[in-house]
Amino acid sequence: MLQTFDMTYPIIQAPMAGVTSPKLVAACAEAGLLGSIGAGYLDGAQTKQFIQEVKKLTAKSFAVNLFVQEEPKIDIEVLQQARMALQPFYDELGLSPVQSVVSKEVFAGQIQAVIEEQVAICSFTFGLPSPEVLQQLKDNGIYTVGTATTVEEAILVEQAGMDAVVLQGGEAGGHRGSFSAPLQLIPLYDLLQQVAGQIAIPIIAAGGLVTKEDIQKALKGGAQAVQIGTALLVADECEISPLYKNAVLASKEQQTTITLAFTGKPARGLINDFTKRMKDAIVAPYPLQNYLTTTIRKESAKQGNADYLSMWMGEKSYLVQQTGTVRSIVEKLL
Ligand SMILES: Cc1cc2nc3c(=O)[nH]c(=O)nc-3n(C[C@H](O)[C@H](O)[C@H](O)COP(=O)(O)O)c2cc1C
Repeated sequence: MLQTFDMTYPIIQAPMAGVTSPKLVAACAEAGLLGSIGAGYLDGAQTKQFIQEVKKLTAKSFAVNLFVQEEPKIDIEVLQQARMALQPFYDELGLSPVQSVVSKEVFAGQIQAVIEEQVAICSFTFGLPSPEVLQQLKDNGIYTVGTATTVEEAILVEQAGMDAVVLQGGEAGGHRGSFSAPLQLIPLYDLLQQVAGQIAIPIIAAGGLVTKEDIQKALKGGAQAVQIGTALLVADECEISPLYKNAVLASKEQQTTITLAFTGKPARGLINDFTKRMKDAIVAPYPLQNYLTTTIRKESAKQGNADYLSMWMGEKSYLVQQTGTVRSIVEKLL
């Protein structure tokens, strides 16, 4: 796997849509990791441009991560109620909600960008790409990686013909990659044990890996590589706001939660005023809720107010203390 992924260490920088910048991806690649572009919120042209920016900064291979798109089943009543639940936030911030259009063509454009730019690795979350898309990638020699949060999903990823699977433990920061109901939060090491012997493709372990000991345990537990997100949020090359970085460093045990409130899909992030007030609120399905909350999050960031920001981080964020360059953080993990 080290050779396939052009990496020195069996560590993958987690794709983090909205967080990963060309600078971070390239710094990770240069430090001997597999860097990954989180392209989930980009369209085809933006994905292509991002890939080209990374190529200017490094000659190493890297991955592009895409969200498998699904058509939201729009129930106008639910959408209305979801908007009403957010009205107090719009009012407080002096905003009006934006209307966004869900485009079917976005995913096809992203795939085209990955192929045209001859990206070595393409990973997916939120489900399985169609057989046609996987065949297209395979025909172009692109290595494919799926995401699974249960044994059943891991088997489905393998059966779909993907080359490797990210096993995402319940501790993981950001969106759950789950695509089969009901939502399960299986701790990473349990998931590794459950999957052992059930699939033959390489396993990448993700979720709550922030210390050298965690990583060793995952590698001994059957993973060929690990994928880390939260531990890299505080790296010098990670271009998130100081507000977000400080929130990771100041976070305490039990301060993260799984919330649907920001995007309509379950994701783990820091508990704040928004996650608390929206705990039992009606939310629109993904990606509609994501559009409905966009202006709230943007305005909150502009005001330097962490109350209404989505600050995705894993359950072990309270153990993250090592700041500095990606290289210095990785040295501590080896
Ligand atoms: C801020 C953030 C954004 C994320 N965005 C994505 C994404 O776009 N695609 C994806 O497959 N996983 C995403 N994840 C999940 C990671 O791939 C990985 O499962 C997780 O970071 C591992 O747990 P850890 O954060 O405790 O290291 C994200 C995680 C974080 C923290």
